[in-house]
Amino acid sequence: MITGEPSGVALDQTRAPYFQVLLDYVDAGVIPFHTPGHKQGIGMERAFRDFVGDNVLAIDLTQIRGLDDLLQPEEALVEAQELAAACFGADQSFFLINGSTSGNQCMMMTALNPGEKLALPRNSHKSAMGGLIMSGATPVWMQPEVDEALHMDHTVTPETVRATLEREPDIKALYVVSPTYYGVAADLEGIAAVAHEFNLPLLVDEAWGPHFHFHPALPLSAMQAGADMCINSTHKMLGSLSQTAMLHVQGNRIRLDRLKAVYKLFLSTSPNLVLVASLDVARRQMALEGPALLSRTIEIANHAREQLNEIKGVYCFGEELEGRPGAFDLDPTKITITVKDLGYTGYEAEEILRRRYGVQVELADLFNVVALYTIGTTVEASDQLVRGVAELAREDRPLDIFSPSGVLDRRMKTGTYHLPKIPPIRLIPRDAFLAETEFVPFKLSAGRICAEVITPYPPGIPVISPGEEITNEIIDYLTLEKKAGVKMQGPYDDDLKFIRVVR
Ligand SMILES: Cc1ncc(COP(=O)(O)O)c(C=O)c1O
Repeated sequence: MITGEPSGVALDQTRAPYFQVLLDYVDAGVIPFHTPGHKQGIGMERAFRDFVGDNVLAIDLTQIRGLDDLLQPEEALVEAQELAAACFGADQSFFLINGSTSGNQCMMMTALNPGEKLALPRNSHKSAMGGLIMSGATPVWMQPEVDEALHMDHTVTPETVRATLEREPDIKALYVVSPTYYGVAADLEGIAAVAHEFNLPLLVDEAWGPHFHFHPALPLSAMQAGADMCINSTHKMLGSLSQTAMLHVQGNRIRLDRLKAVYKLFLSTSPNLVLVASLDVARRQMALEGPALLSRTIEIANHAREQLNEIKGVYCFGEELEGRPGAFDLDPTKITITVKDLGYTGYEAEEILRRRYGVQVELADLFNVVALYTIGTTVEASDQLVRGVAELAREDRPLDIFSPSGVLDRRMKTGTYHLPKIPPIRLIPRDAFLAETEFVPFKLSAGRICAEVITPYPPGIPVISPGEEITNEIIDYLTLEKKAGVKMQGPYDDDLKFIRVVR
């Protein structure tokens, strides 16, 4: 199958050139006097080797002759990444082995110089903060649309983007997240049009949407919508191994020489080639079978959503959400199961579903659990989830979470509880993160400049970041989240009794 010819060479999507060179190396029976030290499994601890099997260890090789070099690709990795670009609709694609986390860092380090302004939504993943700290860029936060009923943030709208760019004319790049962790997608075409009208590059964190390109029932992919650069956590929704992701780029607004230099800065000199090969085969799988596999996934997910919505007290949003502010489109393969009317927090529901019904969801927050449906989800697995939720709904719930003695504040039930407002920015993230700091009691920290990122995880969206003034509203919000059992990522003191602030 010929699907594209970016380098003038006909591309054959039935090939997996990088996986093939690893297989050829094993077939040739080369005696390894090179890393890794386990030497294709011989030196590997027995229990681990027995469990994972010899084959995966045989292709855990290093970048020696014939296996190309991800830092300076010249052979099979050129073809593998060209195939990926053609398949994902990009001009060029780069394989990442440290997730979209490194992709976010690469995008920001490429698009921005220290001190330059980046417009980005407040519900960006914490790895975007890593990009801001490393690049020294100044954030201009955009408020995504807040859905009070669901107690979640959706995406930013083209109108918000336009207002931000008009207000701050020296912004150098625009960054948006689409879809959200909950599968809500932005109007990326509209946003790209605004960005390009202002002659700015559009960077998209599409960590949760690597499958979008392959099915008409899914939202437009960032590349289809005209973004200049995007990242895909291939490992999250497609068949590649954990930690793998891709960065895609198109058009001429991105400085490719800078991107390549930054990419090399982030990459290990010893990338795990099993991970790299898994990207190659995940691409081939999508090129050859993507639409069919995804049709089945979407069908299973839509059926499950219908079944779940029949359970009293359970709500899973669907197409009716589309068109609400910030919810331009919806990825049907993510099912957000709202359990608050059953009297459970999402965290409690997650724990019970795992302990009693043997299913583990991707994410829990105060009101919801999110189940991911992918090309690996079977009908049987889906049925078990639906059974678990149905049982959960039948269980006797002795305590209403919103009752005076329950874990949640009654204000949340009535929808009068708001996510905290974006606090004043007193320093850029880099300067605050690297400043001289001290610890002060969290409850008494209002007015101080935060020096760490505090991220309830999941969903991994910072509530306060380095350089921002700590407000009483933020203290109240994080205290409530802690009370409800939310884990905090980022603070040095996990219990959040103390917080690191700029001295
Ligand atoms: C929106 C978003 N961007 C980036 C990331 C980081 O991706 P990865 O885990 O592949 O490094 C995540 C992870 O959950 C995410 O939700």
